Amino acid sequence: MKTLKERILQDGKVLGENVLKVDSFLTHQVDPLLMQEIGREFAQIFKEEGITKVVTIEASGIAPALFTGLFLNVPVIFARKQKSLTMKEELLTTEVYSFTKEVTSTVSISKKFLSEQDNVLIIDDFLANGQAALGLTALCKQAGAQVTGIGIVIEKSFQSGRQLLEEKGLRVASLARIASLKNRQAQFISEDE
Ligand code: G4P
Repeated sequence: MKTLKERILQDGKVLGENVLKVDSFLTHQVDPLLMQEIGREFAQIFKEEGITKVVTIEASGIAPALFTGLFLNVPVIFARKQKSLTMKEELLTTEVYSFTKEVTSTVSISKKFLSEQDNVLIIDDFLANGQAALGLTALCKQAGAQVTGIGIVIEKSFQSGRQLLEEKGLRVASLARIASLKNRQAQFISEDE
């Protein structure tokens, strides 16, 4: 997606060789017009798939997921990393290990929001090692729901996430695929215009 890649080049900050800081438009301050365009793009990619729910994980997946749900006209569920006081009902839960943060967190979704009738599109802001997407897939499977696709805003293609997900038979669609962050510059994989 051209506008996203231009925005990454303009406002993204490369930290070391592995981390791209995009807190001015995606992970802290959020640009609603860009999120709208992202949501429209994901909806376009997955419009023939009969998606019934969009599933993401708090916090930074919520903005792109919400606009995707808007354009697909389906509800959006975000998995929680901490149990809410009002979540008294039965939960689907799994453990997600973050290589970036070196912590394991328990993520959960209320059983009542997913069933075997559901056909899920998972949306997330970043794909690095694929652990968040894999955890969300596990939650959907616990509910008997089908995961039809994974939509990623920024894929770091030099990390192992895409390979891991594709090996499990999952379809991954990323709007910007970064081949390298060397020399403080994002280099994109060119076929994703
Ligand atoms: P993985 O899910 O693909 O395995 O990724 P990993 O554990 O490495 O990443 C953990 C967190 O860091 C995730 O956010 C992920 O979105 C984010 N992340 C990974 N690589 C980058 C990067 O290059 N830049 C930025 N800005 N974030 C990155 P999270 O812990 O779920 O937190 P939240 O910020 O969404 O609440």
